[in-house]
Amino acid sequence: MAYQNIVETKELVKSYGEKNVVDGISLEIRRGECFGLLGPNGAGKTTTMKMMYGSAQIGGGEMYVLGLNVREHIREIKSRIGVVPQEDGLDPDFTVLENLLVYARYHDIAPTEAMSRAQELLKWLRLSEYAERAVETLSGGLKRRLTIARSLLNNPELVILDEPTTGLDPQARVWIWGFFRELKKQNASVVLTTHYMEEAEQMCDRLAIMDHGRILAIGTPADLIREHAGREVVEFECKAADVNYYLGRLRAAGLDHQVINDTISVLVREGQDSKAVLDLISGDRITLRRPTLNDVFLKLSGHQLRDEA
Ligand SMILES: Nc1ncnc2c1ncn2[C@@H]1O[C@H](COP(=O)(O)OP(=O)(O)O)[C@@H](O)[C@H]1O
Ligand SMILES: [Mg+2]
Repeated sequence: MAYQNIVETKELVKSYGEKNVVDGISLEIRRGECFGLLGPNGAGKTTTMKMMYGSAQIGGGEMYVLGLNVREHIREIKSRIGVVPQEDGLDPDFTVLENLLVYARYHDIAPTEAMSRAQELLKWLRLSEYAERAVETLSGGLKRRLTIARSLLNNPELVILDEPTTGLDPQARVWIWGFFRELKKQNASVVLTTHYMEEAEQMCDRLAIMDHGRILAIGTPADLIREHAGREVVEFECKAADVNYYLGRLRAAGLDHQVINDTISVLVREGQDSKAVLDLISGDRITLRRPTLNDVFLKLSGHQLRDEA
């Protein structure tokens, strides 16, 4: 069936009790793109995704997945998408292969087809040697790979992944990033959530930055950075008592800046000169760095993506 956008929402709302945890989200996710929802814990990422795959009912507004209204066609949608939930949901008593076969049965995939597809996916996710292992003996990274294999059993038109790399060691994360690149080469549409800005920057064609159930900005990582954080960041530490002095100087020079504790970050825009910034400041540990999505998030939300204060 022809559809332009793999996911489309209009003023999507979900409330628990008095609170709108998804508070009027409108977005269009295109076919074939890897789209990210980036935001801190509690931003509403999981709830938004759960509404896409029918694990939470939509509260208000509209949502279409594969061109189908989720209010009317959630069964068909479920049969044509793959989901990697935040909690793996693997059966610890079964082997790796059995987990795939049980899931395939649950999804009405014929047994012979299920077996060949399972073998194919074990190979693709480099899990063949673990096929007979009990799931509970696997590392976190291997479990996540198995959950990804499981989500692909039905040849989904869209794969939805909720924090696919959270809690994994760096090596396992990098492995999964590499796998996503392969998946993308096959023109799969991918929607993922993450609170790792590096991941969002590397993996996503476009992303929505979320906080408190709302979208603060949508765009390609490069465009978001250019628009909201600029070209370069000059960062320096100063004494708490001097912060206002420096901020006054930067403001007078028309330089955008943000402050975390005693560290001042100057957002140098296109056409501005970072050397001119150096004339205005002094202090310890002056560094020059590339702006990141964390700078964008801080700029838009007033707080940091990672709550490590
Ligand atoms: N089933 C639920 N009942 C009540 N509150 C919920 C439920 N699910 C999520 N929430 C609340 O909704 C907010 C958003 O949660 P969630 O979508 O899981 O955010 P994220 O995935 O971005 O961390 C949080 O404040 C969370 O506590
Ligand atoms: Mg979540």
